[in-house]
Amino acid sequence: MKKILLASRNTDKIQEVVAMLKGTDFELVTLDAFPDVPDVGEPALTFEGNAIIKAMIVGRKTEMLTIADDSGIEVDALGGRPGVFSARYASGTNEDRCRKLLKEIANVPEGERGAQFHAVIALFDPVSEKIRTYEGIQRGRLLREFRGGNGFGYDPIFFSDEMGKTNAEMTQEEKNAVSHRGKALRKALEILRELYPV
Ligand code: IMP
Repeated sequence: MKKILLASRNTDKIQEVVAMLKGTDFELVTLDAFPDVPDVGEPALTFEGNAIIKAMIVGRKTEMLTIADDSGIEVDALGGRPGVFSARYASGTNEDRCRKLLKEIANVPEGERGAQFHAVIALFDPVSEKIRTYEGIQRGRLLREFRGGNGFGYDPIFFSDEMGKTNAEMTQEEKNAVSHRGKALRKALEILRELYPV
C-alpha cells in the first residue's frame, strides 16, 4: 500500500476522502500522525492557491506524498461569493453560516438561486517537487430551509437536482459520487495510479 498524507484537520473532509480511498492501493495518513506540523491557514485568494500552499508546505515538512483540498460554495446571485471565504463567511457554527447565507439571498427568486460547490485538490510529491492540481464542481441550488442531517458546512441548504435531494440527505457514497470533492479526487486518483503503480 502506498501512503498518502491528507493535509487537513477537518474531520468531515477526512471522512469523505477515507471513504473514497477504501478499496484502492492507497492508504490515507492524516495530520494526526504529525502533531508538530502547524496549521498552514488559507492565505491565497483562490482555491488553487490555497490547495497548493497547503500541499507543498506540509509535503516538504513531512517528506510524504501529500494531497490538500481547498473548497467552498459559490453563489450565482452573489457573483460567486463567499467562494474561497466560505469557512470564514460568518463566525460561529456551520448552521450560523447557512442562516446568514439564506438571509443574504432571501429576496432572490426561485430560478435564480443557483450555486456550486467548488474544490481544488493539490497533489505534491516531495521527491520530484512536482505539484499537480485537480478541480471538481457540483452544481445545485439553494433552498430556503434546512434538509437532512448528513454531510457538513452548507450541505443542508444545497439541493442537487441530479440526486433529487440535498447533500445532507445523501449517504456518503451518494455525495462522493456527485460532489466537487469526489470529482476532483477521482481525477487525482487516476494520476496517482499511473504514477505510483503497486
Ligand atoms: P476549507 O476548504 O477548509 O476552507 O473549507 C471550506 C468551507 O466550504 C467549509 O468550511 C464549508 O463551509 C464549505 N464546504 C466545502 N466543502 C463542502 C461540502 O462538501 N459541503 C458543504 N460545505 C462545504
